[in-house]
Amino acid sequence: MSRFYITTPIYYINAEPHLGHAYSTMVADAAARAHRLMGDDVFFLTGTDEHGQKVERAARKAGVPTPAFADATSQKFRDLSPLLNISNDDFIRTTEPRHFQAAQELWRRVKERGFIYKGSYEGWYCTVDEVFVPDTQLVDGKCPTCGNSVERLEEESYFFKLSAFQDRLRDYYAQHPDFVTPPGRRNEIVAFIEGGLSDLSVSRTSFTWGIPVPDDPAHVMYVWFDALTNYMTAVGFGSASTEAFAKFWPADVHLIGKEIVRQHGIYWPAFLMAAGIEVPRKLVSHGWWLMDGAKMSKSLGNVVQPAVYVRLFGVDGLRYFVMREMVFGQDADFTDETILGRYNADLANDLGNLVSRATTMIHRYCDGVVPRPAAPLLARAPETELRAAVDSLVDRVRSLVGSFQFSQALREIWDVIGATNRYIVTREPWALAKDAARRQELGTSLYVAADAVRVVGELVRPFMPGSGERMLEMVGVIPAPQSWMALQSGDLVPGSRIGSTQPLFPRIEHSVEELRTMSSDPQKPTEPLAPLAPPEPKAAVPAEPARIGIDDFMKVELRVAKVLTAERVPKSNRLLKLHVDVGTEQRTLVAGIAEAYEPEAIVGRTVVIVFNLKPAKLMGIESNGMVLAASPDGGKPTLIGFDEPPAPGTRVR
Ligand code: MSP
Repeated sequence: MSRFYITTPIYYINAEPHLGHAYSTMVADAAARAHRLMGDDVFFLTGTDEHGQKVERAARKAGVPTPAFADATSQKFRDLSPLLNISNDDFIRTTEPRHFQAAQELWRRVKERGFIYKGSYEGWYCTVDEVFVPDTQLVDGKCPTCGNSVERLEEESYFFKLSAFQDRLRDYYAQHPDFVTPPGRRNEIVAFIEGGLSDLSVSRTSFTWGIPVPDDPAHVMYVWFDALTNYMTAVGFGSASTEAFAKFWPADVHLIGKEIVRQHGIYWPAFLMAAGIEVPRKLVSHGWWLMDGAKMSKSLGNVVQPAVYVRLFGVDGLRYFVMREMVFGQDADFTDETILGRYNADLANDLGNLVSRATTMIHRYCDGVVPRPAAPLLARAPETELRAAVDSLVDRVRSLVGSFQFSQALREIWDVIGATNRYIVTREPWALAKDAARRQELGTSLYVAADAVRVVGELVRPFMPGSGERMLEMVGVIPAPQSWMALQSGDLVPGSRIGSTQPLFPRIEHSVEELRTMSSDPQKPTEPLAPLAPPEPKAAVPAEPARIGIDDFMKVELRVAKVLTAERVPKSNRLLKLHVDVGTEQRTLVAGIAEAYEPEAIVGRTVVIVFNLKPAKLMGIESNGMVLAASPDGGKPTLIGFDEPPAPGTRVR
């Protein structure tokens, strides 16, 4: 077993968490979970970066003492973990005593080795990014990174002799070509080093909200010197106990956004080299979430709040989307259209249908027990092909996850979901079930499909932990903590009882506009949205529904109706808008039958509707009733009909 230490950046607390921060944390979480499944001893760290002038000012503006302000905002980042099902092992705050000790210890070591000296600084400083900006880099007098105004500083300051590390850093990059990924970012850093490194001001005297410099408390440390040290604090650097540090340092991966590669790729290794400490193994940098082409950020006010989208799409819906949509390392635009499209197409349709079909048929045709496949039937082409695809997928996902290519990993998992859905259509278990002589074929086809569901369930666990585990439970497998160590097709145990079938990702029939209205107001009550959210993990649907009395049945008023007009609902593949005559009145309703019926083919047809259903809005259209149709697993809906059409309004019972 090897150890794997992964970190997120620690987040500034002057702003509330948004999707950009949440993305870093979700990606690191997926990597941590995958490594645990592979059997590694994982340590996963996240936390908050709490010092600096801008925090002091934000607290003052809020009229709150700075420590209380820090407590409150840090808590909001801590709350991301339960919200997004994050499995961090520690949450560090730079205001904790353990961190003061660590940062001061690093300072002492660097100073003792002669790499910190006192001088005075005069120049420009950006408090948003907490960086010194040389005159030559100003853009229209503003910070080149965030575009905000810079301030003139003239202070006594300690300096770090960054210039002394130019050659060592250059050599380090030459010898470790994979130190920074993607390669484009590495090249930027190498070019920056080649351009020449000046010494770095590493202390401030004009404010006090920071870690005091050892033996000179009039100075507080530069926030990046303080913040970068967090990665060592959490594994015990500067404390009496050296065990965790010996085990977990150097970190395996610092996961960071692209805007902070320079601090991590130049300052951090140089501080560590100066102190005689090993540098981290890898810096993995990701791109930005954009809104209409601009970086999502508090100052632009264009942020997506993760809680709103968790409420709309469920935590796994959001996790899936961000990791599938953003090609790792590149920027991506966040739009309601794309998240809704992916949710319905990939999760509700492809994955949801596969799991529901496979498990429902095992309940229906095999009494809920995994059938035993017949060896000769397993040797036929569709079976061997699907099983080979599943086995090679396991290898591919392992390697893609190792290199953070999450979007590609999910794409390939979905290829196999598609192949399994096609396999079911080829084998038609519902037809095999009608013929007693074909029991073995039925059992084999359901076994192969359920076994593929099992492997897919295992492979999606890092990305969608709750759904992956529910998929496993649905095929009768208890989720094991290190299941990727020996993952292959054919290990589903025949004879085991499967769990109850639960809807994983209910389809969302709301329009983008409706979603946007709902998501723009986080204070809105959850009531109208509640049915959309995926169910609680344990909300099992009983295999055999409870019997109801005739009184209950009679509460449902079924009536004969005649279709007067029919048209497709724009932007929906499933829905038709119908205008019907119900005898006493005419009504508009929306029916999910567009995949089976052309609008013109059902005009004039007599159907049965639920007459006393509460109205519901579907894709912006108010539907007043529901058309009854049989909905076979894996098949298209079939409308209920009559030998002789009765008059509209006739009651059906
Ligand atoms: N405090 C520093 C990091 C110190 S690490 C020793 C910092 N904090 S931050 O809160 O401004 O940003 C932290 C991280 O949030 C970024 O590096 C990036 O990973 C993530 N993101 C913030 N906005 C983002 C987007 N719009 N898109 C994607 N991620 C971005 O920098």
